[in-house]
Amino acid sequence: METTTSVEALRAQVSDWRRQGERIAFVPTMGNLHAGHLQLVREARAMAPRVVASIFVNPLQFGPNEDLDNYPRTLEADRQKLVAKGVDLLFAPAVETMYPRGAQRSTRVEVPDVGQGLCDDFRPGHFTGVATVVARLFNLVQPDVALFGEKDYQQLAVIRRMVDDLGWPIDIRGVATVREADGLAMSSRNQYLGEEERRIAPLLYQTLRWLVSEVKAQKTDYRALERAAMARLAEAGFTPDYVEIRHADSLQPVSMGELNCVVLAAARLGAARLIDNLRVE
Ligand code: PAJ
Repeated sequence: METTTSVEALRAQVSDWRRQGERIAFVPTMGNLHAGHLQLVREARAMAPRVVASIFVNPLQFGPNEDLDNYPRTLEADRQKLVAKGVDLLFAPAVETMYPRGAQRSTRVEVPDVGQGLCDDFRPGHFTGVATVVARLFNLVQPDVALFGEKDYQQLAVIRRMVDDLGWPIDIRGVATVREADGLAMSSRNQYLGEEERRIAPLLYQTLRWLVSEVKAQKTDYRALERAAMARLAEAGFTPDYVEIRHADSLQPVSMGELNCVVLAAARLGAARLIDNLRVE
């Protein structure tokens, strides 16, 4: 596996592959790789003869009081994991390479509708930061297919919408959430949890499972279910940002009777902000 920090080297390699007619699958990440990320790489490997991964902790998607400075950076360990998974090229640019004029002075990509509400209410500007960096990465890597985790459900919807609106010929694939044995969705931010918090954390997933079963039962109004789920989390020691039952594609609010839904939640627990979601199948 080649590792490069340079746009020129990335472009040269990508042009070479494209000239030979080889399909390229792309997995963008912020590093500190865990089994969730590696599942994306595994599925990418099965989809195209060439796999590019990126590691870039994107300042534009962090709010002023968020964990940009503390975000775990483990490039050498990440590199070894990607080599073991058969990745062809790792792009790990510096901030100045991604934002030559500075992150704040870069052209932005703002995604309406699915990019509003839910996490955007609590992390204003976050999805604009995500869409902007992914747009630039897509233009540099020129992938045929790109893979994103369903764990970040709203992010996946934002990327799909951006690619559709801008007419890019990129197949966006969602990958099922990889969980710890107790159900906690894997996340780089789980390491912010203390021992007692880590014990409580799987309750987020359990609450979503309960909510899905209640939605399926169709006995209680959705707003009442959302309130009950928020109360369960608060009782367990979380500070919930939101618990919402939304349309699985549009992410718009839905009422009882609609079954093509996803339940989504974000909650703070100690120093960590955890998110998770579950489809009502
Ligand atoms: P990061 O949090 O590093 O995640 C990279 C990719 O891994 C995302 O598509 C995310 O949804 C996926 N992922 C994370 N945890 C997962 C899990 N437990 N199971 C399955 N997939 C999982 O998401 C980002 O980085 C950034 O916002 C990025 C898209 C790279 C733009 O900066």
